[in-house]
Amino acid sequence: MKKAVLRTDKYFKIDRVDERIYGSFLEHMGRAVYEGVYQPECKFADEDGTRTDVAELVKEMGVTTVRYPGGNIVSAYNWEDGVGPKELRPVRLEAAWQNLEDNSFGTNEFMDWAKKTNIAPMMAVNLGTRGVDAARNLLEYCNFPAGTYYADMRVSHGYEKPHNVKLWCLGNEMDGPWQIGHRNAHEYGTLAAQTAKVMKDIDPSIELVACGSAGLKLPTFGSWDATVADRCFRYIDYLSMHTYYNNRNFTLDDTRDFLGHALTFDDQIHSVIAACDYASAINKSKKRINLSIDEWNVVYRPHGKVPADARWTKAPHQIEDTYNLEDALLVGTMFLTMLNHADRVKVACLAQLVNVIAPIMTSDTAAWRQTIFYPFKHCSVYGRGTALQSVVECEKYDSKHYTDIPYLATSVIYNEEEGQIAIFAVNRDLDEDCSMEADLRQFKDYHIDRHIVLNHEDIKAVNTEAEPNNVVEEIKNSNSKFEDGHLTSVLEKHSWNVIVLKK
Ligand code: AHR
Repeated sequence: MKKAVLRTDKYFKIDRVDERIYGSFLEHMGRAVYEGVYQPECKFADEDGTRTDVAELVKEMGVTTVRYPGGNIVSAYNWEDGVGPKELRPVRLEAAWQNLEDNSFGTNEFMDWAKKTNIAPMMAVNLGTRGVDAARNLLEYCNFPAGTYYADMRVSHGYEKPHNVKLWCLGNEMDGPWQIGHRNAHEYGTLAAQTAKVMKDIDPSIELVACGSAGLKLPTFGSWDATVADRCFRYIDYLSMHTYYNNRNFTLDDTRDFLGHALTFDDQIHSVIAACDYASAINKSKKRINLSIDEWNVVYRPHGKVPADARWTKAPHQIEDTYNLEDALLVGTMFLTMLNHADRVKVACLAQLVNVIAPIMTSDTAAWRQTIFYPFKHCSVYGRGTALQSVVECEKYDSKHYTDIPYLATSVIYNEEEGQIAIFAVNRDLDEDCSMEADLRQFKDYHIDRHIVLNHEDIKAVNTEAEPNNVVEEIKNSNSKFEDGHLTSVLEKHSWNVIVLKK
C-alpha cells in the first residue's frame, strides 16, 4: 500500500466556493431537451410536459445553475420562435447540429422548469446570426416588469412577473471555425462589448460572460482571451473557458495518461486567469474578471459528425456517451482543480445535463445515473463553504503526455457555519490502495460523519438502463479512522472518495 500525507490549515483560505460552479448545461440538440427534460407523452411527465423523474435526479445531483439554450445552436437561434402560443411556433432547420427544431420548448418553458428544479437560469444570446438588437429585446422580455413592447409580450404569453435572469452569456465559442457567424477576436470583442453595454444599461443588476477561446487546441487560444477581455473589460464579469477530454482519440486508451488531464486543465485555468489579469493591467484597473468554465466534461463522440440517419429529424440520438468509472475519476479531479481555484472560478457548467454527454440518461420508460453523476452530486452536497489550501505528499508517476502526476488529487472544503469539513480525494493509482494521513488537530472536536467511495473492480464499468446500479456510491466508514485529531484513510485503488467530518 502506498502512503500519503495531506496538510491543510483552516486559516489558509483560497476563497468561498461559489455555488454556481455546480452548474450544468441544456442545449437544444439531440435528446437533451426533447425526451430528456420535456416529453409530454411520457408517463413521468407533469402538467407542463416535463419529466418528473429527470427533475428529481437534477435535484438529487444538486445542480444550481443551468446554461440555456446552447451551445452551438445559440448562434442561429431566434428566441422569438420559442415563445407564445405553441401552435404558432415555427419548425426550423437547426443548422449547428442538423436537427429539426419545432420550438415546442422555449424560454418560458425553461423558466418554469428552472423553478421546479430550483436552478438559476444562465441565458445565452445569439451573437452569430444576430446581435445587439435581439439581445436587448430578449433581456427586456425576460427581465423588465411591464409597460414596454417586449415585457408586455411576455405578459401576454402568460408570464406577468419577469423572470429576472441574472447571468447572461454573450454568444458561444465564437473563435471556433465551426461556429455559425464565427468572427475574429477584434470583431467579436467589439460586438460583445456593444451588446454588453446595452444589456447593462437596461438591467445593471445582471452579470455577463464573454466568450473566451473555445479550447486549448485552437490557434487563437490565449491571444483571443486577452483581446476579448480587453475589448469588453468595462462591461463583463466573466470570461468563459471550455474543455473536453477523452481516453480514445488523443491517448489511445491509456488510463494512466487520461487521469493526468486535470494537470492540463489546471494549466488552462492559469492561462485564462493570466489573460484576464493582463486586461486589468492594461486597463490600469483593480477590477478582476473571473472565470466561467461553462462547458467541461469527458466527450468521446466527434462533435461535428451527425449520423446520416439523424439529419433533420427531431431529437435524434446524438453524442450520447456512456461513461465508465475512469471518466468519473477524471470528472472528479476536474472538480477538485476548480475547487482549488475557488478564488477565480465562479461559474462552471458540466456539459451537458441530460442524454447528450450527460450525467443523466433517459429512455421512454426510465431515467438513470451515469458514473459521472456521483462526483458532481458529492461536490455539490459537501463542497459548500471555503476552499482551503491543501498540500499532499505522495508518490508521482509519468505517462505519455505528463510527468509528475501525483497519485492523489485532493481538495478540502471547510464549512464553518455548518461545522463540517469535507476532504475530496481521487486515488489515480490503478494497482495499489493508498493510506492517507492528515493532521487535523484544528478540528479535534470533529468526528467522521461518512466516508463515501465510488469504485468498481473494473475501471471500464458503466451504468446502463438494464444495469443502472452497477457503479454506485457506497458508504465505507471503516476505510477512515479519526483519533485525537489525526485522520487515517484508506483510499482504494482507482477510487473517488469524500470524507466528511462534522463537529
Ligand atoms: O456541448 C456540445 C457542444 O460543444 C456545444 O454545443 C458547443 O458549445 C461545444 O463545442
